Amino acid sequence: MTQTHDTRVVNAYEPAASQRPSATALRLAAYWLERGVPVVVPTETVYGLAAPALDREAVSAIFRIKGRPLDNPLIAHVTELGQLEALGAELSPLAARLVDEFWPGPLTLVLRAKRRLPWVTAGLDSIAVRQPAHAFARALIHETGPLAAPSANLSGLPSPTRAAHAVADLAGRVPLIVDGGDLEHGVESTVIDARGATPVLLRPGALDIEALSSVAGAELPPPPGPAAVARSPGMKYRHYSPRAQVWVYPPASDANSLTARRLARDAATLMADGLRVGVIARHSVRAHHFVHLPNESSVVAQRLFAWLRELDGQGAERVLIEGVMPTGIGRAVMDRLQRAATRLITVELEDTCEVTA
Ligand code: TXA
Ligand code: MG
Repeated sequence: MTQTHDTRVVNAYEPAASQRPSATALRLAAYWLERGVPVVVPTETVYGLAAPALDREAVSAIFRIKGRPLDNPLIAHVTELGQLEALGAELSPLAARLVDEFWPGPLTLVLRAKRRLPWVTAGLDSIAVRQPAHAFARALIHETGPLAAPSANLSGLPSPTRAAHAVADLAGRVPLIVDGGDLEHGVESTVIDARGATPVLLRPGALDIEALSSVAGAELPPPPGPAAVARSPGMKYRHYSPRAQVWVYPPASDANSLTARRLARDAATLMADGLRVGVIARHSVRAHHFVHLPNESSVVAQRLFAWLRELDGQGAERVLIEGVMPTGIGRAVMDRLQRAATRLITVELEDTCEVTA
């Protein structure tokens, strides 16, 4: 049974408009963590549900609170490289180069583990670690030591990118949610297996692959397929899914393109069938709820999970969403959309059918 709490939401910063971690928020978070009770904290990617990595009971509580499958390992968050020692995480030469270049930041490294922390690693002989760049998270970890933290959503729902999302999912299940506002990246960290000589991409994320490969001196393999599942258990679960059914379309070049026309036609058909329809697209489409898709993929990444939750809140039964080009952070956006999707629309195939019909 998950303990019930009166959930308190406190600002991460003091004064509120500054980037200075609030002493009150730090004290409250440290208070609960020292007692082995998980709390929600902001990072530069998404909100995390954190517990001291070395505290078996506290970390086990994370799985209960989220309803997370027990075979899905967690990321341990550090602020000093010395903390890797306590976790038994071993930096390979490749990992050392990546750390030099990209930490602190949205890069998670899977490393060889000398020490067994099965409550964090789900029994694997590796451990995922990252050093967040967020001022509050850093100040907290400096005080408490390494924190294990998955995204602070109920398992299967989109990751929280603002405090209200964590409140919606976890109110009553945690005593404290530290509000850091809308977060910088809005998608999770990039996860790389850095045990070997060349990096293996396990999850595209906020750090772009192009930047990574230039430092790693190697082309990273394409996004993980079924073969990668065994290496990163989290990839096998359907994720980021709002209640609505999500249909994902390719990027549309203009309002008259086949994609744009197909999307508008589908929206009209669904509405005629009496369904409540939300659309996220570059060009205006008649729907119950319309969200304008910005051109910058980084802005799409930052807002995507919030849109999915908003459309759920408005009772949308179908969400039709136009994709972005899968380069840079767009790759992470497309990965999340494909995981949220109940249907992937490929317009080229459809064109061929229409032409030959
Ligand atoms: O940005 C982020 O990474 C956020 C913030 C809170 O840091 N955290 C996050 O955690 O997204 P989570 O638990 O939602 O995703 C962790 C991913 C999962 O896909 C998991 O399977 C993978 O990392 N992972 C963790 N440990 C691993 C390991 N030892 N080997 C392979 N994959 C691992
Ligand atoms: Mg997650």
